[in-house]
Amino acid sequence: MCGIVGAVAQRDVALILLEGLKRLEYRGYDSAGVAILSRDDRLQRVRVAGKVKELEDALAREALYGSTGIAHTRWATHGKPSFSNAHPHVCRGEIALVHNGIIENHEELRAQQLALGYEFTSETDTEVVVNQVHHHATGGKDLLEAVMDTVAELDGAYALGVISRSEPQRLIAARRGSPLVIGVGIGEHFIASDVFALLPVTQRFVFLEDGDIADITRQAITIYDSKRNEIERPIRVSELTADAAEKSGFRHFMLKEIFSQPRAVAETLEGRIAEGRVVEEAFGPNAASVLDTIHSVHIVACGTSYHAGLIARYWMEAIAGLPCSVEVASEFRYRRLVVRPETLFVSISQSGETADTLAALREAKQRGYAHSLAICNVPESSLTRESELVVMTRAGPEIGVASTKAFTTQLVVLMLLVILLGRRHGLGVEDEHALVAQLESLPGKLNAVLELSDQIQTLAEQFANKHHTLYLGRGSLYPVAMEGALKLKEISYIHAEAYPAGELKHGPLALVDDDMPVVAVAPNNGLLEKLKSNLQEVRARGGRLYVFADPAAGVENSPGVQVLNVAPIEEPIAPVIYTVPLQLFAYHVAVLKGADIDQPRNLAKSVTVE
Ligand code: AGP
Repeated sequence: MCGIVGAVAQRDVALILLEGLKRLEYRGYDSAGVAILSRDDRLQRVRVAGKVKELEDALAREALYGSTGIAHTRWATHGKPSFSNAHPHVCRGEIALVHNGIIENHEELRAQQLALGYEFTSETDTEVVVNQVHHHATGGKDLLEAVMDTVAELDGAYALGVISRSEPQRLIAARRGSPLVIGVGIGEHFIASDVFALLPVTQRFVFLEDGDIADITRQAITIYDSKRNEIERPIRVSELTADAAEKSGFRHFMLKEIFSQPRAVAETLEGRIAEGRVVEEAFGPNAASVLDTIHSVHIVACGTSYHAGLIARYWMEAIAGLPCSVEVASEFRYRRLVVRPETLFVSISQSGETADTLAALREAKQRGYAHSLAICNVPESSLTRESELVVMTRAGPEIGVASTKAFTTQLVVLMLLVILLGRRHGLGVEDEHALVAQLESLPGKLNAVLELSDQIQTLAEQFANKHHTLYLGRGSLYPVAMEGALKLKEISYIHAEAYPAGELKHGPLALVDDDMPVVAVAPNNGLLEKLKSNLQEVRARGGRLYVFADPAAGVENSPGVQVLNVAPIEEPIAPVIYTVPLQLFAYHVAVLKGADIDQPRNLAKSVTVE
């Protein structure tokens, strides 16, 4: 999604803004731009319908000097990716603005502005915002008041950075629904869509709340809430360092993140288990009293995080004995539903800024769920601030658009939750010890499965020229197949669909032929024999099988069947392990296809619009 960077400093800010944009590239975008107030108060702007590298080249040809500026990477919503739609948008050479979000009443505002004589140079919803600020500013208001009046007229979501030629030492920031942080420097201040963008210049941040408007100068930051009351927001010191978002010798962020899963899982468990049991306080000081009241669970999330929820449902019902439903957030938020009493609403999100998941949490609070719990990877994100209980996944920054370590650490936290709830509903101490031992064995087992990378690469060579594929799993391995298929389509652009293997004969089997490879995950569990029968159905129709299997599963290499053995792993934790070869498989196929691994086309890391 769109990325924003801004600065008001004593030094030239062009390179700071450019570095910030580079560090936001992972969010996904299609065009980029920067606007800087020159020392003689001219508003200078450079935009490109392409990557930040092209913007850098353009700035090398046409250097912009000045100490107040804003910059942007655009992920198209209203209007195609193009030079004229790229931000910053400028009104009459006076005011420049960058925006992340969607303005829902842009047509109405556009009509009013046309009547006032404003001209439009883009197809964006954003241009009405800069015009509106200009309109209020020419009515005698200063920039802060003009932005305050403007945002009061906007419907929809926004994070904004605004500068004006007539107030060159001032940067106004505002947010509602889209993320924005202020970076606190010494004699200089910054804004950005996330902290990564600003780590080279500061580790001190103020996280704006929904409805906040900030008046930022070199010397001061003054924040107003949505009712225009001046308000204090705490300064938080980030533990992240500037190199947190670097590849550390790996070819891609995604590969680095896949290989960091053993460490990420170990850190997620750190301090949360002791003497073979889950430490209840790890879920927060109020966790015990909240969990005591819970008799059912509703999980809501999007994409990969949704798949984690689907796996947790198997665990929740089998281990904790509690009814559990799982739903994609974009559906949940618009559905009339029956809320069971004593239900815990669980939201899962790597970024904590996914618009649909956030809206679902807000909706859940209105609809009378007993309590809410968020599982998240980004501290101080909107989701963590709005949920009653919060458990962090501690995966560390995830830069690749395709989520990997966030998923496996979400599963770890979900298992901890299942155990805590299970304890209250008949899970015995011995069973808890056994589950905790499985969790503790994960880093070692993940390391072992990562050693298969070269073999998986060889397997991937047979896939790079395919256009369609099916993924199969059964039980809690069905969502693993869904996650594997999502990874493949996201980064290799091969069409992949997942099915519970038993469902194949009810339709999808018609697709199977020599040119439709079928990938399956086959741990040695109670459903193994059923799965093997389903695989026979595929072979009998000439389908080629690629099976990630337990060595004891009895699935052998044979004509049309290629098996890759995965070290033995017990139920119920098998989904965590079987996810990893599918991540590596998608990665190697995509590399062979020459795809843009970390920033796949059309996708964004943090989906902050609906
Ligand atoms: C995963 O590979 C995807 N890029 C995507 O499905 C993602 O999981 C989804 O957008 C939800 O994001 P979140 O976890 O940050 O809420």
